[in-house]
Amino acid sequence: MSATAVTPTTAPTAAAATRQATRREYLMCPPTYFDVVYAINPWMDPGVSVDRDLAQRQWAELRDTYRRLGHTVQLADPQPGLVDMVFAANCALVVDGKIYGARFREPVRQPEAPAYRAWFAAAGFGGVLLPRYVNEGEGDFAVVRDIVLAGAGFRTEPAAHGEAQEFLGRPVVSLRLADPRFYHLDTALFVLDDDTIAYYPPAFTLGSQRTLARLFPNAIVASEADALVLGLNSVSDGANVVVAQAATGLIDQLAARGYQPVPVGLSELAKAGGGAKCCTLEIRR
Ligand code: ARG
Repeated sequence: MSATAVTPTTAPTAAAATRQATRREYLMCPPTYFDVVYAINPWMDPGVSVDRDLAQRQWAELRDTYRRLGHTVQLADPQPGLVDMVFAANCALVVDGKIYGARFREPVRQPEAPAYRAWFAAAGFGGVLLPRYVNEGEGDFAVVRDIVLAGAGFRTEPAAHGEAQEFLGRPVVSLRLADPRFYHLDTALFVLDDDTIAYYPPAFTLGSQRTLARLFPNAIVASEADALVLGLNSVSDGANVVVAQAATGLIDQLAARGYQPVPVGLSELAKAGGGAKCCTLEIRR
């Protein structure tokens, strides 16, 4: 499956030399109260048991991986009862130090917004914009170079895309998600560096697929199998890519393009429909 995607053996070395990691600052939230007790996406089944100790260890491994790569990890305080609060990506979109806050679609997650706002206030940030429209932060927004890619279809309202553009002063490219298994943009697409992305085209409507192909002719196109193990819920610093270890085809594709795959196992968090990226909000000061 991956054989067709692998570029000739001369490419990796040439490309590897040019991959440049940049230091990042991330916000995470320990999965202290993590559980699957409701179902708000097709990955969740409250009947399936969650190994909460294993979830803690897997999450700690992710946090330590970022630190080992030289990144800064800030920690929000988990709140009892907010079982999905571990998915910090959903709490905001932070660009140029401006914080576009989340407005969660599902009532069960709505109390996370003020909890995260409190973290930003305590950390000394300026105000968090209280959005008029439903949006789930970096779950549905991804920053590539000067532009913001934005997903809608299951959670974030399209009107939030315009609101984010107006607030941030950055062009927002509005994309439509079409497959409920990929309910957030960050389950179907991630940014590799200033030039390119990796994505699973069938997660998007045809018009959005054509838009992405036009913007990113060099994109890595992932297989359904890799998308279904949340391989696209990955975090790149421009050179190192923290990626689900089960996404073996994608890992080969990344290596062939000169990136350094950093595989992580997050089986317990996947039961809630989240992977590495969902646990990670990038703070762009
Ligand atoms: N259970 C959570 C939800 O459905 C998972 C959120 C995952 N986060 C993400 N950025 N995709 O809302």
